[in-house]
Amino acid sequence: MTLEQEIKKRRTFGIIAHPDAGKTTLTEKLLLFGGAIQTAGAVKSNKIDMGTRSDWMDIEKQRGISVATSVMGFEYKDLKINILDTPGHEDFAEDTYRTLTAVDSVIMVIDCVKGVEQQTEKLMAVCRMRNTPVICFINKLDREGRDAFDLLDEIEEKLGIKVRPMSWPIGMGKSLRGVYNMYENNLNLYEPNKTKKVTDVVEIKGINDPEIEKHLPESAVATLREEVELVNGVYDELDVDAYKNGDVAPVFFGSAVNNFGIRELLDCFIDLAPAPKARETEERKIEPTESKFTGFIFKIHANMDPKHRNRIAFARVCSGRFLRGSNYFHVRQNKNFRFSNATAFMAQQKETIDEAFPGDIVGLYDTGNLKIGDTLTEGEKGLYKGIPSFSPELFKEVTNLDAMKSKQLEKGLDQLMDEGVAQLFTYEMGSRKVVGTVGALQFEVLQHRLLNEYNAKARFDSVNIYKACWISAADSDKLDAFVKDKYRHIAKDKEGKLVFMAESKAWLQMVQENFPDIDFHYISEF
Ligand code: G4P
Repeated sequence: MTLEQEIKKRRTFGIIAHPDAGKTTLTEKLLLFGGAIQTAGAVKSNKIDMGTRSDWMDIEKQRGISVATSVMGFEYKDLKINILDTPGHEDFAEDTYRTLTAVDSVIMVIDCVKGVEQQTEKLMAVCRMRNTPVICFINKLDREGRDAFDLLDEIEEKLGIKVRPMSWPIGMGKSLRGVYNMYENNLNLYEPNKTKKVTDVVEIKGINDPEIEKHLPESAVATLREEVELVNGVYDELDVDAYKNGDVAPVFFGSAVNNFGIRELLDCFIDLAPAPKARETEERKIEPTESKFTGFIFKIHANMDPKHRNRIAFARVCSGRFLRGSNYFHVRQNKNFRFSNATAFMAQQKETIDEAFPGDIVGLYDTGNLKIGDTLTEGEKGLYKGIPSFSPELFKEVTNLDAMKSKQLEKGLDQLMDEGVAQLFTYEMGSRKVVGTVGALQFEVLQHRLLNEYNAKARFDSVNIYKACWISAADSDKLDAFVKDKYRHIAKDKEGKLVFMAESKAWLQMVQENFPDIDFHYISEF
């Protein structure tokens, strides 16, 4: 097969959702349809049970599960589908953000009872930054959910994206009778079925086809026709380019746990969702069809074996053909590396692979040379646009508790930051080190891993910081003056970028008003 054909057959995407909306269930059903697994229950949720106090063991369990399900590849209708898993727990949101840099599109799961939830909004904001195409799956139709039109309005309002229903629910909850699949013009009648594939549908010739009346009671038919007329009046026909641009989201309705509405979603997805596209780098645009390999690291999984400090770096192939055992150029370190034991991920198994193509994810065993955002090429020095960091939510100051082990602490912090466990900010004044995380769990991870893997004892004390804001200014003299004025609150991130550590919201606002020439960013890429 030519490189071009290999690229065309790949669909690499992520499933995102607020915890509990049904991401794990949907993933499992997609794998069932793809024939990658045979029975339900095979995909383990990567959730941490917050009902009981989460301790290290929970995190370890989570990590074990999530490496197995980090990438799930399977073949469906001659296509190679790669699903990238995103952690459901919001403390690991940063991981999700990074994973989204490696996908070509996403499916967003929304619970029809709860509607758009907080985490969904945050995730959508990340998709919007990259114009990632989004398909919505409104799940749990077997429950008494909210009115379908209300849900669509909420998606448009809260997620800032236009929608186009591709299927329409016939009833909901106890009165759920099926969905009308507008995309393929058929009816999928509902029977609860948790394990079998339900593929029988009633083909119809449009919404006025009398065939519909043979399968549904009169009142349901009347409501369906009325609602579909309204849908077609309110929402424009699907504009595929607008979808690919991230401006409009096709919407499907179904019930993942009942295996209902999944086939329609998958079939439409493979039709619409983009194959790997060109990627912008700092130097130039890289087309997937270029013969030379390029790729970047978006995730690192460490501690695979506690006795060895080995880790798996997940690389997304962006162009060319990745060949196991070849030498590739590590742009940041300016030297060549050979990756002799690259792995691929099929459903839940890892296997050694000889080659991979744009859209594929390869697992590279690493002993500490790779970090998130790194680029590999066949010699070209052009860098991929880095992976942005967001301002953390929680901040703690690190104190070394064992003066003899300061080197170990430094190395440990350095490597854990490379893995993206947390972010380190070093103050200009006094070299104070402050670690920022999205959630409290990461501090437990840090403390435990520093001690167990690096033999470094550290204490994390709360500090009064509200946000870390990356700063810039059109006029560099003004930036210098600001840094001088606020030197007590200026730190550098791991890349050496200047960050203003704001103590409170009100104070940040005041500083912004007093220094109108300084730009404050909540994200490291601007
Ligand atoms: P997540 O990964 O997004 O966090 O969600 P997950 O798939 O784990 O689903 C969360 C809960 O919602 C699960 O129930 C799951 O069975 C249920 N669920 C998923 N899809 C549907 C659906 O279409 N209808 C209904 N009624 N429920 C659905 P649980 O009680 O937390 O776990 P379990 O014991 O059922 O596995």
